[in-house]
Amino acid sequence: MPETSFGLVNRIIASVMNEHTTEIIRDYFEAHFSISCAIFSEAFPDADPITSFRWHKDYGPSCQTHIMVYLDDAAETGGRTEFVNYDDSKRIDSTGYDPTNLESRIKNIERILKDADVISPQPAAGDILIFNATEIYHCGIHPSHKSRKVMILIIQPDFLPWAQSPNRVLFLNYPLNRDLSRENAFHPYYKEVDA
Ligand SMILES: [Fe+2]
Repeated sequence: MPETSFGLVNRIIASVMNEHTTEIIRDYFEAHFSISCAIFSEAFPDADPITSFRWHKDYGPSCQTHIMVYLDDAAETGGRTEFVNYDDSKRIDSTGYDPTNLESRIKNIERILKDADVISPQPAAGDILIFNATEIYHCGIHPSHKSRKVMILIIQPDFLPWAQSPNRVLFLNYPLNRDLSRENAFHPYYKEVDA
C-alpha cells in the first residue's frame, strides 16, 4: 500500500520540528508554540509574477511566524524567496507602499527603497526558512527551470508544547475537511512536472 500523505507530511514535520528548531522558535516567542495550519504550494516558471511573487507582507496576526520547508533545491529550480529585515520593512511602510493593494505590488523593491538590503537565501531541498511574514517584506522568486514545491507551516504561540497541543491533531484540517488519510495533500497544490 502506498504511503498516505498523512505519513509523508508527518515525517517532514517530525524532521522540521527538531530540538534546534524548537529552541529557536520558543526563544523567539518566549512561549510554547504550535502549528496552526500547513499550506502546500507549487510555483511554476512565470515571466509576469503576481501576488506573493511581488513584494508584500502577509495578512494575519503579528504574533506568528512562518516555517517555509523547501522540497527542491533552489539551485535546480531557480525558485526561492527574498527578504528585507525589520528596519527596511519599517522604512518601506513609511514610504506609503500598500502591500494590501495587489495591483500596485512591485517586483523590484529598489524602486521604493534604493538602498534596500535584500536577503536572498539559496535553500537546498530540506532546508527551512523561518520568518515573520506579517511583519517583514518578502517576495517569492518564480522558478526558472522547473516547478518549486514548498510546505509552509504557520506557527503561533500556544499554552502547551507542540507535543501536547490540541493543534497537533487540528492543524491539518485546514482547508476545511481536508483528510490526509484519504487524499494527496499536495493535490491540487502540488503536481509533479517534467524538468
Ligand atoms: Fe507572503
